Formats: sequence, C-alpha cells, structure tokens
Amino acid sequence: PLRSSTLYAAGLPRLYDPGFATTAAYSSSITFIDGGKGILRHRGYPIEQLVDKVGFDELSYLLIFGALPTAYNLALWQQAQSQRVTLPTCVRSVITAFSPSAHPMSILIAALSAMSASRTSLNPAYSGQTVYSDAAGRREAIVTCMSAMPVIVAAIYRHTAGLPIFSASAVPHKQSFATRFLHMLNGGDQSKSLANTLDILLMLHADHEQNCSTSAVRHLSSSGVDIFSSMCGGVAALYGPLHGGACESVLRMLTRIGNVDNIPNFLERVKRRQERLMGFGHRIYKNYDPRARIIQQEARRVFEVVGTVDPLIQVATELERTALQDDFFVQRKLYPNVDFYSGIIYKAMGFEPQFFPVLFALGRSAGWIAHWNEFLDDPDRRIARPHQLYIGVKGPRDVPDVTQR
Ligand code: ACO
Repeated sequence: PLRSSTLYAAGLPRLYDPGFATTAAYSSSITFIDGGKGILRHRGYPIEQLVDKVGFDELSYLLIFGALPTAYNLALWQQAQSQRVTLPTCVRSVITAFSPSAHPMSILIAALSAMSASRTSLNPAYSGQTVYSDAAGRREAIVTCMSAMPVIVAAIYRHTAGLPIFSASAVPHKQSFATRFLHMLNGGDQSKSLANTLDILLMLHADHEQNCSTSAVRHLSSSGVDIFSSMCGGVAALYGPLHGGACESVLRMLTRIGNVDNIPNFLERVKRRQERLMGFGHRIYKNYDPRARIIQQEARRVFEVVGTVDPLIQVATELERTALQDDFFVQRKLYPNVDFYSGIIYKAMGFEPQFFPVLFALGRSAGWIAHWNEFLDDPDRRIARPHQLYIGVKGPRDVPDVTQR
C-alpha cells in the first residue's frame, strides 16, 4: 500500500472526504451491498434466502468463520455459547449500580467495559496483539463475546425493569441464541413464534459492512485494544439516533405524529428541515432497503401472533406511502431503512422504546466480531489514523501576555 511518507514526498494532495463518503478504508469479504439496486448479501448469500433458510446462529457462524456450519458445527457453536452464561461479578455490579431509569445503551457500554476489565485483571498480559495472534486465544475471545452479549443484555433488561437477574443455573443449555436470550429475559417456555421473529430481527441487523459502529470497532481494534473495549466503541456509535438509535426515534416520532391526519403537516416540517424523517434514508441504499421489506412483512405476522394490531403501523404505512410520492424524498432517493418498521415489532413483542437499540446491538455483535476477526488477519492492517485538513491560524504567532489578550 501507498505509505503516507510516499504521499508527502510526492507532494500529492490528501483527500478531504467528510463522513468518508467516497473512501474505502478497509477491504472485506463478509458483506456485499449494491445500494443502487437494493441488494444485500452475506458471503454471497442473498439476505432474503438467509432469512428463509437459516437462523441467527448459522448466520453468525457464516459471518465470523466464512462458511455455513454443518449440523455438527452448528451444534458445537450453540453448545459453546450456551455453556458460558455466568455474568462476571464486576459486570453484574456495574449493571446494578445504575439507576433502572438509565438508558440501557449507556449501561451496555459500561458493562462491556467491565467485561474487558474482568478479563484483563485475570491476565495482565492480555492485549489484542499478543493474545489474538494464536488461534485458540482468538476463538476463545469470539465465543466469550458471542455468549456474553445475550447474558449482559438480558441482565440490563431485568435490572431496568426492576426484576432480579436470573442466575446462570436457570439458563437452558444447547438452545438457539434467540431462545436462550428470551429465556434469560422472562424465564419459562418461550413462544416459538416470537423467538422466530426475534431470530429474524437479529439476522437483519447482524451485519452491514462498514457502517458507523462496525467502522468504530475496526478503528479501535487497529490500536491493538481487546475485543470488549472495541465493542464498547461499537455500541457507543450505534447508540446515536442517526444509526442504531433510529429504531427508538422512529417509534417516538410515530407516536408523536399519532394519527394519519397529521402526516402532511409533519412532512412539511421535514421539508422545511425542522424535523428529520427517522427510519428513512441511507448512505449506501439509494433504493428500497431489502431489510425494510422483510421487516414490514414480519410486522404483519407478529400482529397475527399477538392478536392485536398497533395503530402505529397504519401511521407508518401511510407515512411511507406519502413520502415515496413526494418529490423531496424521490429526488433525494430516500427510502425506508431497516429501522422504519423494527420498532413497531419490538413494541408488539413487549419491549420499551429505549431497549430497541440494545436489541439492535445484540444482533450487530455478530457482525462486529466477524469484522474484528477478519481485520486481525488483514495484511494491510495499520493503526487507523485519518488526516485532517487544518483550517486554523497558520502561525507561528507569539503568545500575548495575559493583560493583552
Ligand atoms: N429526513 C429528511 N431528509 C433527509 C433524511 C431524512 N431521514 N435523510 C437524508 N435527508 C436529506 C438530507 O438533508 C440531504 O438533503 P440536501 O441534499 O437537501 O442537503 C439529502 O437527503 C442527503 O442526505 P445526507 O444527509 O447527505 O445523507 P447521509 O448519507 O449523510 O446520511 C443518514 C444518512 C444519516 C442515514 C440520513 O439519511 C438520516 O439521518 N436518516 C434518518 C436517521 C435514520 O433513519 N438512521 C438509520 C440509518 S440505517 C442504520 O444506521 C441502521
């Protein structure tokens, strides 16, 4: 690769690219997106087929290890994760130290940091560069991370709901990621249908190449930090309303609109830039997000299962229909993204809006881990260190005395 010293020597201009709109910072073979055509494939398999034919456990294996698992490998993958459901004491203490009214994403960031602390204190030599250079250490980190996420998220859920956290012995072994997670939330037998819906949502959120949070994970990993610290950065980036926080914002927006009669006024405010139409628009998709199409169908199925239809689905459907006929949105190629309908489903499943981004993080953790793993093997891997365009005072100038400032 071209090194920056070569660029300086050649006197070449640096590329100024706000928001990395045109720059590829990494190469990857995990996910392919054609945003113009609305195509999403993981390792070559279309998302529609994956959702139809496999579950989240198979998809996480595919993303991380590069191939769909055999039945034997799948059983091993599920077993390895379900055997590690104990929450380290310091992680549990960190979670319960928060007020139950704290935002669950903030708690998740702290819990992952505690997870990192619990491992580094056990092994002072622990560091991304050294431990992850051997295959066993790498695999151990992957399995620990995949198994820790549902345990941590379930503990946060129960704490913020004012409920006691389940002990590890109460968690059934050898079940799918989604079923195990639902068990840790509510205990007892789970509705198969709702577990299927959660599985689909986890799959649709699992990976989306170099989005803000995944790039953050790669960026942090490039300094050699441990996987849990990198994941803290991923969750923090996802928290923002322009990224994973959008699912929460969409529901709050739909609730605020409240009624289809208020849609024209709301869209006028969006066009006057007084509002943003949350759940719409995407850096890469300039066509319908294929995940939004699947989620929309799933929403209708969920309402059949729970037996009631949320009136907000009518507001969402009409909002989408009106926006897609409006020149403002047509000219800018703004379509619903994955988050436009996901919140309505999470709500129907009984989750509070502030918990939606955490569920997003749960699915996306598979992608973060896959990218972290791929990045460690990348021969072009270097510390991430973007240039800046300095626009301040050129100087040098003399520092004035305090009486003369
Ligand atoms: N509502 C209103 N206008 C919008 C929206 C929106 N949701 N999205 C983009 N636009 C407008 C911009 O104002 C801009 O208009 P202009 O050319 O007149 O200035 C034009 O469309 C292009 O948009 P950009 O801001 O350049 O798009 P960018 O790629 O930088 O941002 C983003 C993408 C952040 C997703 C944006 O579309 C957005 O804010 N959407 C709403 C939040 C959201 O749903 N986020 C979730 C994304 S999916 C995910 O992360 C899982």
